[in-house]
Amino acid sequence: MIHHTMELLTKMALRTISGRSALIFNSKNQMNITRTITSQEIFAREDKYGAHNYHPLPAALSHAEGVFMWDVEGKRYYDFLSAYSAVNQGHCHPRIYNAMIKQAKKLTLTSRAFYSDALGEFEEYITKLFGYDKWLPMNTGVEGGETACKLSRKWAYNVKKIPNNEAKIVFADGNFWGRTLSAISSSTDPTSYAGFGPFMPGFELVPYDDLISLEKKLQDPKVCAFMVEPIQGEAGVVVPKDGYLKSVRELCTKYNVLWIADEVQTGLARTGKRLAVDYENVKPDILILGKALSGGFYPVSGVLANDSVMLCIRPGEHGSTYGGNPLGCRVALEALKVLEEENMAENARKLGEIFRNELSNLPREIVTLVRGKGLLNAIVINKKFDAMKICLKLRDHGLLAKPTHSHIIRLAPPLVITESQIHQCVDIISNVILNHKE
Ligand SMILES: Cc1ncc(COP(=O)(O)O)c(C=O)c1O
Repeated sequence: MIHHTMELLTKMALRTISGRSALIFNSKNQMNITRTITSQEIFAREDKYGAHNYHPLPAALSHAEGVFMWDVEGKRYYDFLSAYSAVNQGHCHPRIYNAMIKQAKKLTLTSRAFYSDALGEFEEYITKLFGYDKWLPMNTGVEGGETACKLSRKWAYNVKKIPNNEAKIVFADGNFWGRTLSAISSSTDPTSYAGFGPFMPGFELVPYDDLISLEKKLQDPKVCAFMVEPIQGEAGVVVPKDGYLKSVRELCTKYNVLWIADEVQTGLARTGKRLAVDYENVKPDILILGKALSGGFYPVSGVLANDSVMLCIRPGEHGSTYGGNPLGCRVALEALKVLEEENMAENARKLGEIFRNELSNLPREIVTLVRGKGLLNAIVINKKFDAMKICLKLRDHGLLAKPTHSHIIRLAPPLVITESQIHQCVDIISNVILNHKE
């Protein structure tokens, strides 16, 4: 009886949620399904019961499709963040959704204690697509980075013969690869690292887009790897000079150092090519992927490498309970096929050019710089204006974007956006900028 009542309540709750009502709990934590929840109530509830480790832009979203998201009051927005480039395929892509539901009914998790009929199929697809021998699956982007660092250290001791526990990994100033202690140990942003020490030893820094400093570092025989983003996303969409990645490849080869490319944000069609490194026709030794690998449905990440590197880690030395699970594999397989078969890289490349061209007409005294590749773009705002205030006005005009720093706004819509939608969004952005006062 109790079970039946709960089931009924849950069904009612789900129906009301999709009708823009939501579950509200009373003081005894009992469900009260009463009325439509407002945005203000959503802000207040998260603020009260959730940790304050984010500063969300006030928009309380309840559903999304393609390039659009709707808030609980039914207001529609263009999504210009794409969940930090995880939703390249557009929100709730029907093909990925169907793959997920189909697999969810069959088999979701085996752990890696056993084989599944999904993992090998996905591994074969992704390795052939990107031209590497092997795939090592994880879940979040930061675990991909961690895996790349661990692989490099193993390789340092097994292959490069660096004395035990002395291997160094070099990172670029301004890097961002997540929030674990390892990731923040390489960070140059005090908001990320301050107050969380002590930090991981064996991590060193060089300025981004500076080949002379990099070459000096790589001469140290204890350096085993250089990890770098082809475009620095969180730093504010910082695009290095043409030829940088090609020279990074040459220097790493010259000094027998592994080149790790962190394409968690730039990869998977976002910048107008399958990978951002494809612009310079170069191949990293270790490639980290995440975010759009599962099109916003489910966390899937991992690294690609050839056998000479990948087989340095042996059974039992690294892993994850959920990494490589059948549900994630089916979602990721479909998410990759969607990117390929729906030509999303080409759309991003073409529309990105139009977008930057149009935005470069904005007055220089407000927008000092427009930069990016494909549909990973940012506008740099004159420091006397507040980027957050501009984002709030964009929100009021139906477009959601977020500052990466106080004066940079990242503009990265899902890659299914059309040319006429891009023009509409340029109009929204231009109107807001042109009418903005200090
Ligand atoms: C380049 C890059 N690497 C790694 C990460 C970490 O990914 P996750 O948040 O899934 O751990 C991010 C997240 O923004 C990123 O931009």
